[in-house]
Amino acid sequence: MARPYIEFVQTQNIDWETQADGTQVKRLNVDPVDGEETYLIHYPAGFSAPDQGPEDRAEEYLVLDGAIAMGGTEQRYHGYGFTPRGESAGTRATKDGATLIVFRYARNDPDSVTGATEALTVDPATLSWDMTPSVAHIAHLRLARKVLRLGPNDSSRTFLLIGLPHGIPSEKDMPAEIHDHFEEMFMLQGQMWTPEGLIRPGAYFYRPPEIVHGPHVSEAGFFQIMRAGANHVRTKWTAPMPLPIGQGYAPKIPEGTPESWSRPWRGTEAF
Ligand SMILES: [Fe+2]
Repeated sequence: MARPYIEFVQTQNIDWETQADGTQVKRLNVDPVDGEETYLIHYPAGFSAPDQGPEDRAEEYLVLDGAIAMGGTEQRYHGYGFTPRGESAGTRATKDGATLIVFRYARNDPDSVTGATEALTVDPATLSWDMTPSVAHIAHLRLARKVLRLGPNDSSRTFLLIGLPHGIPSEKDMPAEIHDHFEEMFMLQGQMWTPEGLIRPGAYFYRPPEIVHGPHVSEAGFFQIMRAGANHVRTKWTAPMPLPIGQGYAPKIPEGTPESWSRPWRGTEAF
């Protein structure tokens, strides 16, 4: 079993599900066999839970909003953490509430288990942006990144990625990308034009290996958290394809997805 291809959903269109412990979740993408999944979770104000014991799947998170003590470590805006399978994440407590994006690794993944990898917490604000210029095919996006975690044995890369506004090439056509590993994204801020429409804050996609995607351009600039199934993104390029500026929403959605997930989303008014 593998995780389904979804590109893309605005997570504002997904209903919160309330769980027995009072938290609410939006499940974005799940492998029902191996347990690999990505979800948003909201911990309500006053939430407190004791140590739940060893995790059955590695847990990786980024705090999107609010503040929460995870295993005694106070985490707030963009606080990042990783707990290997087989280790305990400890207690969790939040006074005013918190919303996180969580990535759960597969139950049988040899590269995210205790002994193969280590627990980690990072305050991304303390890291420097890597502003090394990108290859010519995506140089127009003016990218910079902060690597949060590299999995052992070339297994994964979790990173923050930004692109400057006015990221539009002079050419009318640019190559699209193909990777031999998965790629996953949640949009924190900004906008990006894709052949599937305009990605806005709160957008999510999961691409299995070998999916053709792009070209991408960004008039507004963007800030996203991304994961890839390798330590460095490996790209094959297609022949040039038209730029997607102005493309209407045309998502690739797994069969059986609730209709509400693919409603057009225009975002809230800024002025
Ligand atoms: Fe890509």
